[in-house]
Amino acid sequence: MAQSSALPAEQYNYDIVRKFTIMAMVWAVIGMSVGVYIASELAWPFLNFDIPALTFGRLRPVHTTLVIFGFGGSALFATSYYVVQRTCQARLAFPWLAEFTFWGWTGGVALGALTYVSGITQGREYAEFEWPLDIAITLVWVCYFLVYVETIRRRSQPHIYVANWFYLAFILAVALLHIFNNLAVPFSLTQSYSLFSGVQDAMTQWWYGHNAVGFFLTAAFLGMMYYFVPKQAGRPVYSYRLSIIHFWALIFLYMWAGGHHLHWTSLPDWVSTLAATFSVILLMPSWGGMINGIMTLSGAWDKLRSDPIMLFLITSLSFYGMSTFEGPLMSLKSVNALSHYTDWTIGHVHSGALGWVALVSFGSFYHLFPRLYDAKLHSQTLIYVHFWLATIGIVLYITSMWVAGIGQGLMLRSFDDYGNLAYTFIETVEFMHTPYVWRALGGAFFVAGVLVMAYNLVMTVRASRREQAALEAKLAAKLAKA
Ligand code: HEM
Ligand code: HEM
Repeated sequence: MAQSSALPAEQYNYDIVRKFTIMAMVWAVIGMSVGVYIASELAWPFLNFDIPALTFGRLRPVHTTLVIFGFGGSALFATSYYVVQRTCQARLAFPWLAEFTFWGWTGGVALGALTYVSGITQGREYAEFEWPLDIAITLVWVCYFLVYVETIRRRSQPHIYVANWFYLAFILAVALLHIFNNLAVPFSLTQSYSLFSGVQDAMTQWWYGHNAVGFFLTAAFLGMMYYFVPKQAGRPVYSYRLSIIHFWALIFLYMWAGGHHLHWTSLPDWVSTLAATFSVILLMPSWGGMINGIMTLSGAWDKLRSDPIMLFLITSLSFYGMSTFEGPLMSLKSVNALSHYTDWTIGHVHSGALGWVALVSFGSFYHLFPRLYDAKLHSQTLIYVHFWLATIGIVLYITSMWVAGIGQGLMLRSFDDYGNLAYTFIETVEFMHTPYVWRALGGAFFVAGVLVMAYNLVMTVRASRREQAALEAKLAAKLAKA
């Protein structure tokens, strides 16, 4: 379990953690609202309004960039800077570099979104930034690495807690992925050509895409889980040995599985089979990690009845388990023949993104805020309200995508008695309208939950400021008397 602090709280650099936490919430509201808007565009296409900047094609990368890099990335910066200080019992190294990572990252995400709205994009999924932004991001990332590693080096604890291993693997792997996937020849300030072409280009993109999921959306959030679940439960992690096995197995296996995004394409068949094999094996460390997290609560299950933050954390682990069961299933070539090019994939993405990534971040933020602002959370009831809005939203989102995806997949592969396709493409689009409406509704529920959370956190900060001001006034009065 993470050690309790030897340094007094004011010795840690919480300012940078606060900044990233607040930005994560801002990106969550904007990025997820854009998600609801594009979901609505798919249900009611008139919402494109024939305005290029509002079309689905331009707003979709805005959504993915703001939620993955804006919300997810800022949540990871915030929690990793907090966790490394607390578990190493050392103040964050190079505070000015850490400050630079904040402004660099926030500016990069904002500029990225603006360029996509204007139609400037590299056209590589989850890596749409054009080359000048790619270089700037590389610089920010190198500074992040330096701050993190130097803080670990300055630790006053002999041991490096496992959460730091996961965060460090994420920082290293993302650097590698970002640099290789973005190798390009600049053509102008806003255009470049990839160094790769044909099937190599596809492989490079999905080696990146899959490992972005594996290291950005999974390994790093596992680092978060390994610190905040034991802390909130007030118990040591269920099995420290299992967490080490989980770590090595996960980082070894993920790198080989990217080919499952390219089944039934011009990729060599053996690459596809290799990827499917590694994907199926990935189930084991993933579930090992999930069980390790959930079992941390063993002997204290009653906390689920009394602690809404625990509810967020344990539910996130359940969704982690669910999406890492669904993923290996979808990586089988026969299943992928049905699921690929359909909304089943989108359902899988969001059971991981909303159920795992967002819920574990929300749970961790609820744990963090009182500590960052030295105040009690404004309302426990509002945390429950948030939890139920989020859970209902996720269930509506993923079940509607299963119906849309599996339905469309089955329609596209059915034949009539004469061997002709039984359905035209447009018939499948008509069929998907109703699930699309439900998905947009599910998204709206989820965003409503985020707004409730934002309100709760703002009220917490306000109360903390009021208390601080009252204390200062008291002190000033005492001093004046003296
Ligand atoms: C209110 C919540 C959200 C809504 C309504 C929403 C909606 C959408 C929609 C409509 C798409 C486009 C689907 C398509 O291309 O057919 C999409 C794609 C995507 N979203 Fe979200 N989203 C939400 C939250 C999130 C979050 C929190 C994350 C990540 C942390 C995320 C990650 C993604 C990714 C990775 C894709 C691309 C999926 C793919 O191409 O397979 N979304 N989202
Ligand atoms: C053992 C773990 C996992 C495996 C083996 C796995 C496997 C897969 C497979 C086979 C696909 C469909 C590829 C296609 O047909 O194009 C997919 C898509 C995807 N998965 Fe997973 N998945 C896993 C866990 C996760 C988790 C936990 C998340 C999110 C946090 C996630 C996010 C995504 C995304 C974003 C895509 C869509 C990529 C795109 O087409 O744009 N996966 N995954």
